[in-house]
Amino acid sequence: MNIKENISLKEYNTFGIDVNAKRFVSVNSVYQLQQLLKAEKNVFLISGGSNMLLTKDIDKLVVHIDFKGISIDKEDDDFVYLTVNAGENWHDFVLYCVAQNYGGLENLALIPGNVGTCPIQNIGAYGVEVKDTITKLEAVNLETTKLESFSNEDCNFGYRNSIFKNSVKGKYVITSVAFKLTKRNHNLNTSYGAIETELASKQITEPTLKDISDAVIAIRKSKLPDPKEIGNSGSFFKNPVISKTQFLEIQKEYPNTPSYIISENEIKVPAGWLIETAGFKGKRFGNYGVHEKQALVLVNYGNASGKEIYALAQKIQNEILNQFKIDLEIEVNIIK
Ligand code: EPU
Repeated sequence: MNIKENISLKEYNTFGIDVNAKRFVSVNSVYQLQQLLKAEKNVFLISGGSNMLLTKDIDKLVVHIDFKGISIDKEDDDFVYLTVNAGENWHDFVLYCVAQNYGGLENLALIPGNVGTCPIQNIGAYGVEVKDTITKLEAVNLETTKLESFSNEDCNFGYRNSIFKNSVKGKYVITSVAFKLTKRNHNLNTSYGAIETELASKQITEPTLKDISDAVIAIRKSKLPDPKEIGNSGSFFKNPVISKTQFLEIQKEYPNTPSYIISENEIKVPAGWLIETAGFKGKRFGNYGVHEKQALVLVNYGNASGKEIYALAQKIQNEILNQFKIDLEIEVNIIK
């Protein structure tokens, strides 16, 4: 294995933050990873780098997970079962599925990152969450270096959440994910307003998987910055869930507050709306700021530091707490 020294991580995180890795190695098999972990206990793992904000140089050995490959485990007339290695790019995998007419992931087009990290925060968009297609996954235990299997239930998936963000956080590296996708009678999800509008504008009444992924791509491109052009990590915050009582209080002052009912006494409010209402949408502070079309996304226009972006996030959190009495939770992993 080729361990490099003093490498910039700018190309390895979608925020495009330029920090230094003292030592860096790419691993392309589970075996290589296990060998490395036997020799080196204290490592920093990086995959697609799409859900992290680096605020300092990394002194540990940075291990870049780069296992590639998609295999079909079995199939019948209705379903296909695939295993995908962690280093496959998520969007490329979605496009592959759409091209093969495998249904289930078409609403999740253009989400940055790799397949191995999609279960960690149970990526979701336009009415679909990845948990509904994952059957199981494999992960290496960083302490024992053994490969372990997790069923869908073991992962304890929730909204932007899983066991990998909670009880076993930082203890495993996911090496492959298994999916069950449809080959016919696809369970299409076009109920999300923006998708309906996009399909209607093209006069599509019986959409194919490709029609849906094309619609999602068009919507995302119109609202969300492309990390290749403007550094970002997608949603920086989670949408907060508040009590109905608190929601009614907010509604008195802001009658048009958007909301989704979660349960009898719980309401989800879009963080993007809160941040926009607090006046941050499109605000630029030198090299960084809040995206002009989606206030949930913080952006790096050039050479901003992770510390600067994190300070902005904290400023936003304080403002939302003062104005709405809501604790905004950061979704991105802050590396400090
Ligand atoms: N809104 C505003 N101002 C903004 C942004 C949004 O008022 O600047 C309002 C919109 O008008 C709308 C509501 O908030 O009423 C919801 O907006 P949107 O449909 O854009 O979705 P979101 O709740 O802001 C979530 C995900 C996104 C995902 C979209 C679509 C979270 C934290 N984010 O955003 O995920 O693409 O739904 O399903 O749940 C990502 O994770 O990187 C990501 C982009």
